[in-house]
Amino acid sequence: MISSLTIIRAVKICLGVSLLGQAVAAPNSTLVLSAPEVKKVLRHGPWPPVLTSDKFTDAGNEISTSSVAIALGRQLFFDKKLSPTQNVSCATCHLPGKAFSDGVAQSKGLDGLPLFRNSPSLLNARYERWYGWDGAADSIWAQSLRPLLDPREMGSSVDFIKNRVVATVSISRKYIDVFAAQPSSQTAELVSVNVAKAMGAFVASLVSGNTPFDDFRNALERGDTAAASMYSVSAQRGLQIFIGKGECSTCHVGPMFSNGEFGDTGVGFFIKPGLVDPGRHQGIQELRASRFNLLSNYSSAGPLDRQKTSLVTPQHRNFGEFKVPSLRNVAQTAPYMHNGSLATLEAVVAHYSNLNLDRLHADGDQILKPLNLAPNEMADMVMFLQTLSTPVKPKKGLQTSAR
Ligand code: HEC
Ligand code: HEC
Repeated sequence: MISSLTIIRAVKICLGVSLLGQAVAAPNSTLVLSAPEVKKVLRHGPWPPVLTSDKFTDAGNEISTSSVAIALGRQLFFDKKLSPTQNVSCATCHLPGKAFSDGVAQSKGLDGLPLFRNSPSLLNARYERWYGWDGAADSIWAQSLRPLLDPREMGSSVDFIKNRVVATVSISRKYIDVFAAQPSSQTAELVSVNVAKAMGAFVASLVSGNTPFDDFRNALERGDTAAASMYSVSAQRGLQIFIGKGECSTCHVGPMFSNGEFGDTGVGFFIKPGLVDPGRHQGIQELRASRFNLLSNYSSAGPLDRQKTSLVTPQHRNFGEFKVPSLRNVAQTAPYMHNGSLATLEAVVAHYSNLNLDRLHADGDQILKPLNLAPNEMADMVMFLQTLSTPVKPKKGLQTSAR
């Protein structure tokens, strides 16, 4: 193990030869990264990334960039009367002040019992490939329909949703604007899908702002050593482990700090004796069976988006795999992991540091090994992870944009 002292000594390395080939003078800099490390860091940006798939911010959702649809979706997202109980909305489990997560280990259902899954942040959902910890949905709108109709979440029905839309002037007026149709003349299922699509448009508009990490990364790209030096040495050392011996960036890649796929990190998938959460394995089966996936008649997905769903098939290794979460805004989304079993970032770092290899699948990921980090290295890693969040001022940090 390299001691952090060695790192500090080895590092006063300037970005003398920056990647862009410009010479940068950095005699007194507190930059601790080598040129090859800088190259790896640059791959985690720029932020926000450019959408690659097609013209929709939500796959298969033809209204996803309409500003009226986003306004309608925002109203519906906070509407407790879409639930017959009249006291649950999407925002019950996705709070704007908590990066649209809910701060509890496992969200509670209407029956008061835990749902066994942790509510994820909805920020930057437009850049995800799959939705839910098991990827059982391939678009934001399909994922939104699920809690509406799930008896344990909002407990609604397509008829109930249609009635709410038809009977509420402030909703139906926008609905007619967006969909150019009278909801009363459509099937309840179509109205419900359209409600979910408007919610999808709103959720897809939630993009988080620049973070201290982004400022650092962009300064490195410009070769601006003075600006880069504003980033704490501790965070830099954490970053160094993240892209180096920690192998974290093998799965937490790119601007989202996620490869958009699924993995096994040795978090238990037993819910209680005799009951397991099969994760991705079941997610793929649900996705393929869904009447609301990107291959369905309700989807306007182009060939590229349809392909991701038509090609996916469950494999044995998918059992107990969960989505590699984005680490953006991770400081605001405790507790962690699919089941909320780790309360703090310190606990997550300790989990990776003391990893129990026996808990990884035999045919699972070969990437992870116990890191045995020293206490100061763990503190550095936590410091780094904290720089991935937009400074907490939900209103300001949050940009809502159609594109
Ligand atoms: C009772 C709590 C609860 C309610 C209400 C709820 N959600 Fe969720 N949400 C969750 C949980 C838990 C997950 C993770 C689900 C999983 O892994 O299958 C989730 C996942 C999601 C995701 C996937 C995010 C990702 O990146 O994987 C989206 C999008 C989402 N919810 C949107 C909504 C919308 C829109 C509504 C309102 C119609 C809503 N949710 C209502 C708890 C809730
Ligand atoms: C093999 C791929 C892989 C590697 C390597 C990896 N992770 Fe993860 N990470 C995941 C997956 C998958 C999850 C979700 C696991 C679950 O919920 O059961 C996760 C979850 C997390 C979370 C919790 C985020 C949240 O919102 O709940 C953090 C923080 C995190 N990882 C940081 C790291 C760090 C730091 C490293 C390096 C020491 C690392 N990861 C290495 C795949 C990986």
